[in-house]
Amino acid sequence: MQFTRPTTDEFGDPIPSDTELNDGRVFKKSGNPIYPLPNDKSEYIRLNTQHYLLRYQLQCNYLSPVTNDLERGIKVLDVGCGTGIWSIDLAREFPNSTFIGTDIIDIFANETSTIPPNCSFLKADTFKGLPFPDGSFDFVFQRAQSMCFTAEMWPRVLREIVRVTKPGGYIELLEGSFPRNGGPATTRQVDWLLTFSCFRGVNDQFMSDPSVLSEAGIQNVVTATDMWRLGWDPDHALGEALAKNYVTVSRATRPLITAALGIGNDEYEETVQEIEEELSYRNNENRATMYIWRHYGRK
Ligand SMILES: C[S@@+](CC[C@H](N)C(=O)[O-])C[C@H]1O[C@@H](n2cnc3c(N)ncnc32)[C@H](O)[C@@H]1O
Repeated sequence: MQFTRPTTDEFGDPIPSDTELNDGRVFKKSGNPIYPLPNDKSEYIRLNTQHYLLRYQLQCNYLSPVTNDLERGIKVLDVGCGTGIWSIDLAREFPNSTFIGTDIIDIFANETSTIPPNCSFLKADTFKGLPFPDGSFDFVFQRAQSMCFTAEMWPRVLREIVRVTKPGGYIELLEGSFPRNGGPATTRQVDWLLTFSCFRGVNDQFMSDPSVLSEAGIQNVVTATDMWRLGWDPDHALGEALAKNYVTVSRATRPLITAALGIGNDEYEETVQEIEEELSYRNNENRATMYIWRHYGRK
């Protein structure tokens, strides 16, 4: 029987030709081979939802003391920007500032909201080098890249971020861990994810250590640690949304994890369904937690 490649995704949108289909998910061929998440509309919706969850929980889009500068008008870079939602959100709030988002693939081109005139995007692989002269930006922000780089790659990535920041400018990073303290199914799936990440050289806790920033030449580093209580936050709407976000991530990583570890799709999906139950408010024992680290400092 001949396999016919589908031409449209689950939303009926055309699937670009420069992609690979795996277990119903779309992966761009030109993406980072270490990064395990798909490049399709379901993932773009998840990333945008995650942005608003972070903003709601942390009650801000950044921790650095740059609000007055943003109001006055500065140049801001959003590294590995994904859909570009962080830049778009800030560009609307601070029309005097200029925002540029970069990503290894042009997933920002799929953003359906109106892009403000003070916001633009371009393709760039952070590890290979950002296409800007030294000292170009007053504020450089990078978020959710822990699955993009190995421990060996991180110092070079940080040096590149420091290079494009103006002397005295601010650098801010936000990274999250995989869940810990989960029930049996969550622990089983996280163990798969950890094994898979280990094969790729990725350590989800690497950015928990602020000394990594100091070693890259970032000064006066300030760190804040927050928790994502998946399905047990006192704010039930937040807890439910965080649990749903993790269940969505679990399904999004299924194609690559099952292939790499030789796990059957059915076994994986049954585990995800058990995770949904474990992370629900019906389970009083649930304490599954993801840690969020925010660091900022100056060049
Ligand atoms: C989890 S998403 C986070 C997106 C965005 N920062 C956010 O918080 O919504 C990670 C993004 O990093 C991008 N990425 C992966 N490797 C990269 C690299 N080497 N250079 C630039 N971007 C990269 C991916 O394409 C993806 O869009």
